[in-house]
Amino acid sequence: MKILVVGGGGREHAILSALKKSPKVSELHCAPGNGGIYEIAACHNVKATDIDGMTALARELAADYVFVAPDDPLTLGMVDALEAAGIKAFGPRANAAIIEGSKVFSKSFMKRHGIPTAAYETFSDAESAIAYIKAQNSYPAVIKCDGLALGKGVIIAQDFAEAREAVVSILENAKFGASGREIVVEEYLDGVEATVLAFTDGKVVIPMPASVDHKRALDNDEGLNTGGMGVICPAPYYTAEIAAECMKSIFEPTVRGLADEGRAFKGCLYFGLMLTEGGVKVIEYNCRFGDPETQAVLPLLETDLFEIMTAVIDEKLAQLPIKWSDKSSACVVMASGGYPEKYDTGFEIGGLENVTGAVVYHAGTANNEQRATDSGQCKYVTSGGRVLGITALGGSLDEALETAYREVAKINFDGAFYRKDIGRKIKM
Ligand code: AMP
Ligand code: GLY
Repeated sequence: MKILVVGGGGREHAILSALKKSPKVSELHCAPGNGGIYEIAACHNVKATDIDGMTALARELAADYVFVAPDDPLTLGMVDALEAAGIKAFGPRANAAIIEGSKVFSKSFMKRHGIPTAAYETFSDAESAIAYIKAQNSYPAVIKCDGLALGKGVIIAQDFAEAREAVVSILENAKFGASGREIVVEEYLDGVEATVLAFTDGKVVIPMPASVDHKRALDNDEGLNTGGMGVICPAPYYTAEIAAECMKSIFEPTVRGLADEGRAFKGCLYFGLMLTEGGVKVIEYNCRFGDPETQAVLPLLETDLFEIMTAVIDEKLAQLPIKWSDKSSACVVMASGGYPEKYDTGFEIGGLENVTGAVVYHAGTANNEQRATDSGQCKYVTSGGRVLGITALGGSLDEALETAYREVAKINFDGAFYRKDIGRKIKM
């Protein structure tokens, strides 16, 4: 089977690495890919959001399947376009991907189906939003853009002044463009977070082991929000009891609710959860695998990902047992100095050849094989904010973390930084 994976980050590198293990997969392609992906798949210069370009590429390659990994092509309808062209695709159609694409939709969806989430109101004019925040008089106040905003559309305002500034910047000054035409103002939830990725074919839902992302740039959860600086899996505090509660009150009602509304979701559904004293609540849905969660979760998968992908597409997930390793995994992200704000790229990455106990997933790297051959110089250079994700497995979380950090220390590039405390607060 010939598979084309859409995207070019650490998540896609982890997905391709899992697909590569399948005896049924004979050819892997990726667009646009990155330096590390280039080693295991043929990379094509088509943007992940270029729906016509990607459909044409899939046709030209005669790909048997296209795996659409990132949020934006999914919400833009790439799966719909591929299906219309007669090409099988993994991922939700646009009418289901809206669960991530519009927070106004996802909040009202949860209300309609009695799925626990933070109390909220939606607004499209600043004056009413500000009046509401003033009347609530409860801080922190959480303000969210309706649409996709590269993970930056959530503001946790500590006081009224900050909340007002956020509302004005989004609704009046269009800081996030059309994504911020509407906002959600919601209750602040106190608790610990967990991510649950789940396979679903629109009928059954099969959760993967829960993981914990670390979103802030710096140790002790300081600094700016990022795409994610490290992950551990499984989340030790996500007990079997909590898993059963989530299945009953969140996962099944979500999949059933979407199907009942004519929006059957097929693909990987991401549940961002807050474990509060009052039970588990949904912080957000995403319509895809998480990044970097995937880099910690998929290495624990023992079932063939290709088999799962086809079972999802063919709506036969109920018949497929899915097995997981009972090991723990830890993924530490190495980022470019300055990320998530301004950073430089093009720095050589050294020491990769010394990594023996971990898998290195490439996120923001470029491959300069020609230069390497000509001059013996390093083959990989940095090309993005998050550069690498180093994942180690272990018999315990401690062991996985120890190995991951030992291997991270062998890798270097100018300005490299990483959090030193991934998983530390979480250990039980
Ligand atoms: P989101 O983009 O919705 O995942 O939000 C980004 C981060 O903001 C989440 O991972 C949480 O840490 C935090 N967050 C979002 N909504 C809330 C909330 N209602 N209460 C507390 N924290 C929140
Ligand atoms: N790691 C958070 C996300 O993928 O949205």
